[in-house]
Amino acid sequence: MSEENCNYKRILVTSALPYANGPIHIGHIAGVYVPSDIYVRFQRLKHRDVIHICGSDEHGVAITMKARKEGVTPQDIIDKYHALNKKAFEDFGISFDIYSRTSSEIHTETSQEIFKTLYDKGVFVEKTTKQYYDEEAKQFLADRYITGTCPHCGNTGAYGDQCEKCGTSLDPTDLINPKSAISGSELVLKETKHWYMPLEKYQEFLEKWILQDHKNWKVNVYGQCKSWLDQGLQPRAVSRDLDWGIPVPVEGADGKVLYVWFDAPIGYISFTKQLTPDWEKYWKSPDSKLVHFIGKDNIVFHCIVFPSILKAEGSYILPDNVPANEFLNLENDKISTSRNWAVWLHEYNEDFPGKQDVLRYVLTANAPETKDNDFTWKDFQQRNNSELVAVLGNFVNRTLLLTEKYFKNVVPQPNSFTDSDKEALAEIAKIKDDVEKSLENYRFREALNFAMGLGRLGNKYITEQEPWKVFKTDPERVKTVLYVNLQITAAISTVLEPFIPFSMKKLRGFLGLSEILDWDNIDGRELLKPGSTLNKSSLLFEPITDEVVEAQIEKLNRTKIENMKNNFQPAPQKPLISFDDFQKCDIRTATILEAEKVAKTTKLLKLTVDTGIDKRTLVSGIAEHYDPKEIVGRKILMIVNLEPRKIKGIESKGMILCAEGGDKSLHFLNPDAELENGCQIG
Ligand code: MF3
Ligand code: ZN
Repeated sequence: MSEENCNYKRILVTSALPYANGPIHIGHIAGVYVPSDIYVRFQRLKHRDVIHICGSDEHGVAITMKARKEGVTPQDIIDKYHALNKKAFEDFGISFDIYSRTSSEIHTETSQEIFKTLYDKGVFVEKTTKQYYDEEAKQFLADRYITGTCPHCGNTGAYGDQCEKCGTSLDPTDLINPKSAISGSELVLKETKHWYMPLEKYQEFLEKWILQDHKNWKVNVYGQCKSWLDQGLQPRAVSRDLDWGIPVPVEGADGKVLYVWFDAPIGYISFTKQLTPDWEKYWKSPDSKLVHFIGKDNIVFHCIVFPSILKAEGSYILPDNVPANEFLNLENDKISTSRNWAVWLHEYNEDFPGKQDVLRYVLTANAPETKDNDFTWKDFQQRNNSELVAVLGNFVNRTLLLTEKYFKNVVPQPNSFTDSDKEALAEIAKIKDDVEKSLENYRFREALNFAMGLGRLGNKYITEQEPWKVFKTDPERVKTVLYVNLQITAAISTVLEPFIPFSMKKLRGFLGLSEILDWDNIDGRELLKPGSTLNKSSLLFEPITDEVVEAQIEKLNRTKIENMKNNFQPAPQKPLISFDDFQKCDIRTATILEAEKVAKTTKLLKLTVDTGIDKRTLVSGIAEHYDPKEIVGRKILMIVNLEPRKIKGIESKGMILCAEGGDKSLHFLNPDAELENGCQIG
């Protein structure tokens, strides 16, 4: 066992429970589920006792807001998205041991039990405070139900619990100009009673546990914790006035439910109970290692709030690590569910059947591990074509085809090894060790890069050895060369399994391996026995064409245009002018007679128009909106008495009137076709 894990008998891996209020997108899977799946698949290959827990987060304002918006019940929302996301994860090969939901009975019981334990121990502080109340909707508002201006960064769309722009966690009373997100109305303050977790009492414990004992946590995680602790922890309410959630299980708590961030992480425990009667061994034994995979917006809850709750309860272990990732952007813009700016996992699965591994690969190679990163479809295509196809696929397929051609698909018996053979064989175990070290330390990008080293090694070796040439003169030598290639290929089928499991399963099929190799056996020993038979192979990866990625880019462009149209705000009215001022503008009907592009420009057309008064030339910035061929003969409106201007050496006399649409498109104004040229507008 490597050092990292030698003190542990089992590993409990959790992945953040996604809200069942919308589909999963690439940001979620790049940040949380692809890395956690890689980690767990690797631990399974090491034959460790590992379980991977996840499920839907079905409480909280995220759900009720969505239901309100769609005019359906919260139950409708969670049923729809739980099913959708569960299937999308499955189709994508995210191998949870359980994907449950926080609306399940066992979860209600478990959360209430833990609340009750803390309550009975006198952990909570009961406080009556003034909170915002919406008189129109007749309810207390909390969290996302309130929007206003962030006191830190000035973002006018900040929520009552968090500003998504600067990431600061907020209290509704911090907001400047708070408004109800339901009715838009002003809010009044009204008294209400809640239970608070006195986090300040855990300050000292957390400082030691995180700042001293877990200096090995990722810089972004450690840094966020430190900044929270440096600011000094405050009590946090763990109940809410809502009609959706788990009832607070004590007297005098009518209409109060557990705060979603109190119950959701307990979901990790409830789901483990659901998975195995042995759940306590994972949660309560110091020889279990707990790892939370999350996104950066969840750090405080997993590193500060939940550990304080578990610590207060007293019988649970705390996380050994919380490898949180930063965010992934899409085509240089923040991923946003409300703006539909995302690549949805279920849509990817549909649009790219059998290509889950390509996205898994790209999201790992470009994972937002230390800073926010950008996903672009061009990069997706490029990485597929020049890395998966040109390096990995190319090596594997050449090896398999040559074995079929020269040795009828039987693994050849090698002859004596040259130094380069020995070097290549020795490199395999070294690469595996590097991959392992990186994976144990949650450096998935680096691990993948090391693992791809097997493909690079194979390509380099086969290119140097040129078996296709040597075969003509020395077929015995080619036996050795292909033997080495096949050992590399067999190692690939295991070492890359955590990253691209679908393709590696396919590869093991080609290699005639009914079972996945033992990770620890990749230590220099023979992986594929001479004399064993391979199966017929096909391409491991296929190029992705320009049309395919252009269709995806086009889809995003349509979203962008839709968003611009939805957000269209007419410009404010200009200052008043006198009737005389207006009279000075001479606006006429006219007809376009000729149109051509102005050389060396993208935006300009040179037009000849009949104004009724004369025929004249003008230059107009409409080339990106109108095809010159299609506008000849169009009747338009224009200002004829604008002072002439030289544009690109052409004298332009007048201006065509256009309206700019919400999507920034330009449109001629269309006078009736039967109007003569030169009619005055006024
Ligand atoms: N639903 C939360 C989110 O999407 C994550 C919950 S993680 C858990 O941000 F710890 F609460 F389970
Ligand atoms: Zn802010």
